[in-house]
Amino acid sequence: MGMKGAIVVLVIGVAVVYLSRYNRGNDEPVSLNATYDYIILGAGSAGCVLANRLSEDPESSVLLIEAGGSEDDNFNISIPIASGMLQKTEQDWKYQTIPQKKACLALHEKRSAWPRGRALGGTSNLNYMQYVRGSRHDYDGWAKEGCKGWSYKDVLPYFIKSEDIQIPELQNSEYHGKGGYLSVSDGTSTPLSKNAYAPAMKEIGLPFTDCNGKSQIGYCNSQETIRNGERASTVKAFLRPVMDRKNLHVSMKSFVTKILIKDKKAVGVAFIKDNKKYIIMAKKEVILSAGSVNSPQILMLSGIGPKKHLEEKGIPVVADLPVGDNLQDHIMTFIDFHDNTSSALNKDTHMAPFNIIKYLLFKKGIMGKSQLEGTAFLADGDNLPPYFQLHFFSLMYEPEFINLYIDLLNYDRKYTDGKRKEFQSTIDRNLRTFIILPILLHPKSKGSIRLQSDDPFDPPLIDPNYLDHADDVKTMLRGIREVLKLGDTKTFKSIGASPQDPFDAYTPDCDGFQKNSDDYWICRIKHYTFTVYHPTSTCRMGAKDDPTAVVDPELRVRGIQNLRVVDASVMRNVPSGNTNAPTIMIAEKAADLIRNIDSVKYLRERTDKL
Ligand SMILES: Cc1cc2nc3c(=O)[nH]c(=O)nc-3n(C[C@H](O)[C@H](O)[C@H](O)COP(=O)(O)OP(=O)(O)OC[C@H]3O[C@@H](n4cnc5c(N)ncnc54)[C@H](O)[C@@H]3O)c2cc1C
Ligand SMILES: *[C@@H]1O[C@H](CO)[C@@H](O)[C@H](O)[C@H]1NC(C)=O
Ligand SMILES: *[C@@H]1O[C@H](CO)[C@@H](O)[C@H](O)[C@H]1NC(C)=O
Ligand SMILES: *[C@@H]1O[C@H](CO)[C@@H](O)[C@H](O)[C@H]1NC(C)=O
Repeated sequence: MGMKGAIVVLVIGVAVVYLSRYNRGNDEPVSLNATYDYIILGAGSAGCVLANRLSEDPESSVLLIEAGGSEDDNFNISIPIASGMLQKTEQDWKYQTIPQKKACLALHEKRSAWPRGRALGGTSNLNYMQYVRGSRHDYDGWAKEGCKGWSYKDVLPYFIKSEDIQIPELQNSEYHGKGGYLSVSDGTSTPLSKNAYAPAMKEIGLPFTDCNGKSQIGYCNSQETIRNGERASTVKAFLRPVMDRKNLHVSMKSFVTKILIKDKKAVGVAFIKDNKKYIIMAKKEVILSAGSVNSPQILMLSGIGPKKHLEEKGIPVVADLPVGDNLQDHIMTFIDFHDNTSSALNKDTHMAPFNIIKYLLFKKGIMGKSQLEGTAFLADGDNLPPYFQLHFFSLMYEPEFINLYIDLLNYDRKYTDGKRKEFQSTIDRNLRTFIILPILLHPKSKGSIRLQSDDPFDPPLIDPNYLDHADDVKTMLRGIREVLKLGDTKTFKSIGASPQDPFDAYTPDCDGFQKNSDDYWICRIKHYTFTVYHPTSTCRMGAKDDPTAVVDPELRVRGIQNLRVVDASVMRNVPSGNTNAPTIMIAEKAADLIRNIDSVKYLRERTDKL
């Protein structure tokens, strides 16, 4: 069956999936009230968790406002293997960074494409579902830098509270939770994880571990936020099950333009829905959960931000704070390895009719997994956070198919198109390829979010300032060298897997350097700098007197009453790993701070010992 046939079967099947969907809840209230106790802006990874937890209290009324529509408007969202097809759809804000000076040199206009989710569930609809909590040293570092209450000991119970671990070997682990809203399941899919990735990593000295357990350092099978073969976005996991609560209203396709502030106190919110302007008042608090790009944007539009910048844009200053500063993101590159066992998947195999039918009928098989089968963390010592992460991706290089390469597709191919075709024609269909992604975890380069204008519909200016700090190039190089070592292992040799540079044919700019020399790889890093989609820290948390902080350790905007930020933007620093689970943890903890309760007392007895 060709692609077309596969798509037809997929579409029909998806209709079946749609009809059998669990617990949809009510989509919209009949009409909005004039006031609520709590108004949450943004129904993303954090917003859906907060809406659930705050509305647990029947005495509180909650309004959740989201710019996008239902996550069910795009069927592909629920199918894990389709993760790469979700970008540039209606459920994506389709942001782009400003042209980079020292990075992204080979990408279209030197910009990096920054997908961000725009629907109930936010970016948890678009992500690759990797469940990674980060290093205990990350959180201990936050606490040391003034974020009281955010040490590893403090946050671990909140990770466990959310979780419903589905992996048999981890059922009895003290580090995992059972019965929570968020299903975490095993991500292994092809024989490569067991036969190639794990033994090769062992050969280069990295033990097999549970990266969310006692020690993060080593190689682990992926843990994925997937429930019965379907994406467990935060809307599916946390919001749908409680959407019919009487004290919770959800307003979709509602574009927030401003937080209303009176006498340094947040009193309400303005948004546009169906071309009408709405003003709704908050009796207790306004909680901003619009993510690392839009939370700083909305604060600045409301007069909270760097004074000089706001004045330039003609916005009256309410509070002079470093909003939009300290932007941090992970970057990666790609290294391909051939695989003569044919275990890696390509588009013919993963869309094979058998796989589609198996998935549609039983939600089983490779379509129900991301194919990021394994991950690993490299560190310089047991009491340091890791400096590098690897992802092992068992889906073959197919630029037209895997939108992971979306930046590359934007590449102005003016003078390389010939080379590209030549390269593609050399791909041997019988030779499969898997990909290893080396990821820089703690960039020293810091970027910013700024406003283009005072118009809320103008996308903000995103400048990650990638590779601005020379150490970031050095660390990337160091990580790449570790990956290249895998090519020398007995394991990889036995399957004929040697490192290939997928961009070799695209990078005439690096032709002048000797292949595989440091200078060659440095050139490569600077030309093909890809985001790992983990922007954080643009409304950074810190002690009350910390000049870099936007919110205090209770996530209250400094100097403004009744206003909190709860999402990835408050992270003190980007953690050692993917950012979805940490964002969910932040929302779980924030709900307790807001309600002034301790919902995880029952877990501390166990976690305090860990
Ligand atoms: C392609 C991709 C792959 C990723 N892979 C992984 C992964 O495998 N594992 C992992 O842990 N993390 C991954 N991430 C990152 C992770 O998903 C994010 O860090 C996390 O979802 C951020 O959550 P948030 O609550 O801060 O923001 P979001 O989830 O982005 O939520 C913000 C919400 O606010 C809404 N909003 C914004 N502005 C307005 C406005 N003006 N009015 C109304 N609503 C508004 C948005 O529409 C959105 O719903 C990935 C991200 C991407 C893009
Ligand atoms: C879902 O994926 C299929 C297969 O690639 C594609 O044809 C279809 O357009 C996608 N649907 C949406 C809504 O993007
Ligand atoms: C909305 O207002 C009605 C009428 O006052 C009230 O009964 C209801 O509980 C309110 N709903 C919410 C979610 O605040
Ligand atoms: C893979 O290829 C190598 C030679 O490149 C060969 O020695 C090995 O036997 C092959 N392995 C398998 C499983 O086919």
